[in-house]
Amino acid sequence: MVEIDKELLREMLSHYRGRGSDLIPLLLEVQAQFSYLPEEAIQLIAGFLDIPEGEIYSVSSFYSQFRLTPIGRQLVTVCRGTACHVRGASRVLSEISEEIGVEEGETRDDMEYTLESVACIGCCALAPCIKVNDGVHGEMTAQKVAELFAVPAN
Ligand code: FES
Repeated sequence: MVEIDKELLREMLSHYRGRGSDLIPLLLEVQAQFSYLPEEAIQLIAGFLDIPEGEIYSVSSFYSQFRLTPIGRQLVTVCRGTACHVRGASRVLSEISEEIGVEEGETRDDMEYTLESVACIGCCALAPCIKVNDGVHGEMTAQKVAELFAVPAN
């Protein structure tokens, strides 16, 4: 289990009243802070809201924006929407996967990269495009992939 800052969590909880309707806002705030929903946070929230942990796992599994596992320092999101698909999103995804050494939906062992795909990242005119954390990169080519993910020379 990853160690998390319980004091910070308790501080977050103190802004809520402990009602069932607090669940989604709390999960969103916890995920914004930790980038996923740590097991310890789910336990604390369950106690705070007086609901079973299983209910929180059900809710967090239902909504695709919630993550139950930690992500890498760099979250690489490849768009697979229609505009990007017709302009080679699958090729871009496999090139990135090869470059960073991680499969779609997985995180590299050293926690440097997580690779995922989504339906649209809202920059269709730049297709095919990707995001690395909050930065958008458009009109991706094999060369751009190589430049973006090149391992710096020592
Ligand atoms: S389809 Fe890729 S950004 Fe919209």
